[in-house]
Amino acid sequence: MKNNNKHNPVMLNETIEYLNIQKNGIYFDATFGYGGHSLNILQHLGKMGKLYAIDKDPFSQKYSQKIYDQRFHFIYGNFSKIYYYAKKLDIIKKINGIIIDLGISSPQIDNPDRGFSFMKDGPLDMRMNTNDTLTASKWLLKTKKKNIIDVLKNYGEERYAKKIAEAIVKRNKINPILRTLDLSKLISNVISKKQYRNHHPATKSFQAIRIFINNELEEINQLLNNVLHILSPGARLLIISFHSLEDRIIKNFLNQHSYKKNISSHFNITGKTEHKKNIIQIKKINKITPTKNEINQNKRSRSAILRIAEIIS
Ligand SMILES: C[S@@+](CC[C@H](N)C(=O)[O-])C[C@H]1O[C@@H](n2cnc3c(N)ncnc32)[C@H](O)[C@@H]1O
Repeated sequence: MKNNNKHNPVMLNETIEYLNIQKNGIYFDATFGYGGHSLNILQHLGKMGKLYAIDKDPFSQKYSQKIYDQRFHFIYGNFSKIYYYAKKLDIIKKINGIIIDLGISSPQIDNPDRGFSFMKDGPLDMRMNTNDTLTASKWLLKTKKKNIIDVLKNYGEERYAKKIAEAIVKRNKINPILRTLDLSKLISNVISKKQYRNHHPATKSFQAIRIFINNELEEINQLLNNVLHILSPGARLLIISFHSLEDRIIKNFLNQHSYKKNISSHFNITGKTEHKKNIIQIKKINKITPTKNEINQNKRSRSAILRIAEIIS
């Protein structure tokens, strides 16, 4: 199938190279989106290979139905439940690789009706899964100022969190904020453009609210904890992140489980040093970013970091 969607898969060649695809292997694409990575994986798989792709966005689910390939199977749901999916499919410890391409897809951000963009007018929604009930506008209306401050600080590292939260609560009491441009204009009025030289004043707040509404960081933590229990020895784990909060979680996770760092030394009763290994070990393979050429062709790739690891036991 030709991929006509408007999402440019990030570091496509690099992900295929580092996945080290075995012809008859079993692979997971935990973030199907519009199939950019999935379609390429399928091209490299043999007749007996399998690809399972997950996404919680019903639009991605609909798009996946265009892929007519017996080796491909789409799972509509949260990637944090990957252990459960793998168990149901009876492929625990049989999986040869997984790719996780975090964040949102271009069709999600470019469609004003999805409410992710502070540049285009649309309902203030921001749900990746449109079957969930809590939209950004509903949450801002019902939550306390303190919670908004916490979200803006913790998920957006927003310096003016208090000022912005106060303005949101004040405005919501008079005339609820229901549209994306209402919110981005309100934030622009609270923070002067001079205070944000390199980006729109609403960038960090929109990122923070989106992360909260979609429970993004908790989902990543749960996914990472589960992948160790489903991947087979020698399997590759590839994770693409787009901002420092995501990358910090991934980096800490890889450090915590990496082979060298997990060897703890202690003295046994004979006085000799003994090395104790954790049961699951990871070997860090590489960390790469997009080439200048890719960034020129796809500006959205500029903040991407791809970390690659291998399961060794
Ligand atoms: C950056 S896009 C992936 C793009 C894809 N690699 C491609 O080339 O088309 C990220 C996708 O992950 C999905 N997603 C994000 N968090 C998720 C989660 N917790 N569970 C399932 N899907 C999730 C989003 O809905 C979005 O479609």
